[in-house]
Amino acid sequence: MKELIDKLYENNSLTKDELLFLLNNSKEADIVYLQHKATETRKTHYGSKVFMRGLIEFSNFCARDCIYCGIRKSNKSAERYRLSKEQILECCQIGHDLGYKTYVLQGGEDPYYTDEKIVDLIKTIKSTYPECAITLSIGEKTYESYKKFYDAGADRYLLRHETNSKHLYETLHPDMSYENRIRCLNDLKKIGFQVGAGFMVGLPGQTNEDFADDLLYLKELEPEMVGIGPFISQKDTPLSNEKSGTAHMTCILLSIIRLLLPKVLLPATTALGSIDKKGRELGLKSGANVVMPNLSPTNVRDKYALYDGKICTGDEAAHCRNCIEGRIRSVGFEVDMSRGDHTDYNK
Ligand code: 5AD
Ligand code: FES
Repeated sequence: MKELIDKLYENNSLTKDELLFLLNNSKEADIVYLQHKATETRKTHYGSKVFMRGLIEFSNFCARDCIYCGIRKSNKSAERYRLSKEQILECCQIGHDLGYKTYVLQGGEDPYYTDEKIVDLIKTIKSTYPECAITLSIGEKTYESYKKFYDAGADRYLLRHETNSKHLYETLHPDMSYENRIRCLNDLKKIGFQVGAGFMVGLPGQTNEDFADDLLYLKELEPEMVGIGPFISQKDTPLSNEKSGTAHMTCILLSIIRLLLPKVLLPATTALGSIDKKGRELGLKSGANVVMPNLSPTNVRDKYALYDGKICTGDEAAHCRNCIEGRIRSVGFEVDMSRGDHTDYNK
């Protein structure tokens, strides 16, 4: 097993059979070694830095019906909210005062926020804070829409592929197609965004073979960012009684992703911090180098309930900023408040 991990460390690739072997047969000592090599690799490219992104969850209206997600349109118990442009700009100002240089605008696929409104928002934020980066996370759009957002000044786009199994993808996403998801990711790359793909860990029916396919897909796409986190059941969804994914498996996959894509920007996600109270620290020790504290107003926080038990729902932005800094330091890393672009990127 050690030779296989060394091979992954040196070549930044493995075959599907090798990945499967690693996933199926790793013992505790192998996993420690894997984390050690992942940490070495992240240190080569990013030292001890952990980049900070300010997350603004600006709308939980959603036209989609993903069966795992608490803000799916069929969830009649979800209390809907939408921040106005002015409220979003207030979040940015709070973020700016706390030193953030990346704003992640995330929302459901909300038809109220037309391309024109998004473009206006991007232009206003960029002219107010010219030194900042804008990351969008607003779902599937046409090439033309993505291009408008890019031309308006958006720098990055997060769109997890969720799973590379077409069958599982289409079971989880009624009325959506795996092919369109991949089309979106290819378009985003073509346009020039720094792109974030990624998947959930521990979905019902998901196998190690599915993970091997997810990993190979990431290697092929070469996204600048990869977001992964455990699936966590949400009480008002069709998957409410399903078992959630684990921090352990998520961390193994984080380490493998770090070794497959050495320079990738890899967050220790909120879902990882929610499934285990030390989840984000464990993620950082497994090769992650980004965290995304919340900047949304506290009165809407608990309404962006993608899954049960989400952390930080009652905490002010300033509290999260300090909390996360302590956590980062506690595992021997340091906060970096710069834009934190991918090292190969120049727009
Ligand atoms: N558990 C974990 N992650 C979830 N997401 C959505 N619902 C859940 C859930 N129940 C993730 C998806 C999406 C991201 C914004 O949140 O991967 O892309
Ligand atoms: Fe929000 Fe710790 S990061 S309370």
